[in-house]
Amino acid sequence: MNPSKNIQSIIPLLFLFLFLNPLVICQLDYSFYDNSCPNLSNIVKSSVTSAIAKETRMAASLLRLHFHDCIVNGCDGSVLLDDTSSVRGEKGAGANKNSARGFEIIDDIKANVEKTCPSTVSCTDILTLATRDAVFLSGGPYYYLPLGRRDGKTASLSAANEQIPSPVESLANITAKFTTKGLEGSDMVVLSGGHTIGFAQCFTFKNRLFNFEGSSKPDPSLDSSLLNNLQSQCPNQDSSDTNLAPLDPVTINKFDNVYYKNLITGSGLLQSDQALMKDSSTASLVNKYSKYPYLFSKDFGASMVKLASVGVLTGGEGEIRKNCRLVN
Ligand code: HEM
Ligand SMILES: *[C@@H]1O[C@H](CO)[C@@H](O)[C@H](O)[C@H]1NC(C)=O
Ligand SMILES: *[C@@H]1O[C@H](CO)[C@@H](O)[C@H](O)[C@H]1NC(C)=O
Repeated sequence: MNPSKNIQSIIPLLFLFLFLNPLVICQLDYSFYDNSCPNLSNIVKSSVTSAIAKETRMAASLLRLHFHDCIVNGCDGSVLLDDTSSVRGEKGAGANKNSARGFEIIDDIKANVEKTCPSTVSCTDILTLATRDAVFLSGGPYYYLPLGRRDGKTASLSAANEQIPSPVESLANITAKFTTKGLEGSDMVVLSGGHTIGFAQCFTFKNRLFNFEGSSKPDPSLDSSLLNNLQSQCPNQDSSDTNLAPLDPVTINKFDNVYYKNLITGSGLLQSDQALMKDSSTASLVNKYSKYPYLFSKDFGASMVKLASVGVLTGGEGEIRKNCRLVN
């Protein structure tokens, strides 16, 4: 075959593509990479599969990373940016420092994707797809994602500090952090079900174990046998602060609805988890999800698609980063 002829035949298509591009690609689209990177979902899935085979917890870490990307000024890959002289990243924010993980996996996937589809797929879409696969491979729902997110050129440490929910703030405050992003209180309840996998460091819930809210007693809403276990996993001294406890000790690595069953028995790990039982409208959703695993699975998938569309950059906004840690 004559290669120059081949190129000639592509030219009109190229013009058509350039012409249509700005018109068509101004929002997320299920077939966004169908032509430009048709094997994308397989590449991501195989990288995530091997990452989770190496370390089961990686599924949880990716899910949390995606949440922390999207909840801070939208899904724009800002959480992936390193500190440089021109960008102050979000990795140093309270909720991320010594806690957010999975960056190397995103780098690996990006490297694999770049081999086949150079400068085509955003780091934000890669994190979004990797999270979907991580959830599914852990036993959670498979959900369909429109694609075409672009990578932000900035990050905001202060926004990360302000916008990521803290486990010790009030339910009302946490709810507000979701609703200001266009998510609903019900999305918050179902997305909190992400705590069906993964781990938390002792310092994130230690306030409940010894001197709860200035008293000399533990949190009375905490189940007593879980309390005993946690007190021995997290002794009352600073050196235990970074010890890990599973968010759902009953089915640690399985993405299921047991998180909600735990809340009903007073076995939520974080104060913010157990708080879902202290308000009648969130508690009624907890009861529902504890009874109907399929409903949880379905609603979780739908809320993840919503989360993944918060504040996205599309069309000519942002860029396709070459290196997920650096602005081009
Ligand atoms: C509702 C407000 C939320 C609060 C206050 C909260 C807080 C936390 C905290 C304190 C940790 C432990 C971090 C550490 O010790 O290093 C954690 C872990 C985690 N969070 Fe959340 N979170 C919230 C919502 C979510 C949402 C919406 C998702 C996902 C949809 C999510 C997914 C996870 C996962 C999977 C982990 C475990 C990560 C790992 O093992 O690496 N969280 N969260
Ligand atoms: C698509 O990606 C998978 C996973 O990396 C690989 O095994 C397969 O060979 C690729 N297929 C094509 C047509 O490139
Ligand atoms: C809730 O948010 C308000 C306003 O930002 C703040 O003053 C208050 O301390 C927060 N409450 C809790 C319990 O975190």
